Amino acid sequence: MRSILSAGVTALLLTVLPAAAVTVKKSEYAKLPDGSPVSLFTVTNAKGMEARIMTWGGVLVSLKTPDRTGHLADVVLGHDSLRDYRADTGTYFGALIGRYANRIGGAQFKLDGKTYKLPVNDGSNSLHGGVIGFDKRNWTGREVPGGVELSLTSNDGDQGYPGTLKTVVTYTLTDDNALRLHYTATTDKATVVNMSNHTYWNLKGEGDILNNLVTINADKYTPVDEGLIPTGELKDVTGTPFDFRKPTAPGARINQADEQLKRGKGYDHNWVLNRTGKGVELAARVEEPTSGRVLEVFTDQPGVQFYTGNFLNGSVKGKGGKPANQRTALCLETQHYPDSPNKASFPSATLKPGEKYDSTTEFRFSAK
Ligand code: BGC
Repeated sequence: MRSILSAGVTALLLTVLPAAAVTVKKSEYAKLPDGSPVSLFTVTNAKGMEARIMTWGGVLVSLKTPDRTGHLADVVLGHDSLRDYRADTGTYFGALIGRYANRIGGAQFKLDGKTYKLPVNDGSNSLHGGVIGFDKRNWTGREVPGGVELSLTSNDGDQGYPGTLKTVVTYTLTDDNALRLHYTATTDKATVVNMSNHTYWNLKGEGDILNNLVTINADKYTPVDEGLIPTGELKDVTGTPFDFRKPTAPGARINQADEQLKRGKGYDHNWVLNRTGKGVELAARVEEPTSGRVLEVFTDQPGVQFYTGNFLNGSVKGKGGKPANQRTALCLETQHYPDSPNKASFPSATLKPGEKYDSTTEFRFSAK
């Protein structure tokens, strides 16, 4: 009788009590020169994992996650102030990237017979949405269950792209230590869209990432020309330094005499993800041996840019005013392949009126 009663009480409590809650707190991060506020959302789960996201650039400012002993460390690169974020035009630390993540060759593309010219901000190409990409906008933020919803309207012609693009990106934290990014966009004219997040991960919280064990779920990658524009080939990774199908340290092969590594100054390439269905699937996994922290990236996108922070050269100051040095972080930017608008054979990044761009990427954390 007693056990039946307590089972009943437990069942009742389970239905009445909310699931272990993720809390969201809004504060002011800083003010822009025109006085408008940049808000900061601190999202914490029941296990103490904490993500801080600001409206400026939709930047993931910090992410604290436990190591194998439960010790929390911030595992993302960033700056100490809004002034530093705004002055930095090259790293895209933690930012949302749009309208088009990575490069569009010759800073132009043709759509429905019309040529659209984009800002040139990387050699002769357009990188990460142009000079004033989504990383340099103050998004509108509001709390939602488990996280923050950021919205932004990019006007027709913004950075050369056609169509009014209405974008909503939601960051949510789950109680099983996953940070989920959900991107949506709609347009009133045919356009191209490829959104991503440019977080620089350092799972140890310090030092370099050369001995991290990286797995990328891809049999192929897209080799690039000297300007880092894909040649169009989908190249088999077998027998190349780009084979990360088994856990491998980036440092093991990064200095090999290889034309592709030379062009990227290390790894700075798009991998063609092995996919079986439509939803989120494992793209990459990173294990940091000292702390035991593990990051798994799940996405519904066809590609991931694996970038080993090759262009960080200490000239930009990171957190605590310390120089951000080469290879002190790695990026796993889920995306459509770079330059897709100019490559008919790549999965299309075109968005038409009446369609919805809808994409999810999850960063799942654990420790072993
Ligand atoms: C690009 C790199 C670039 C970095 C920071 C990455 O997505 O592939 O070439 O240096 O972003 O801008």
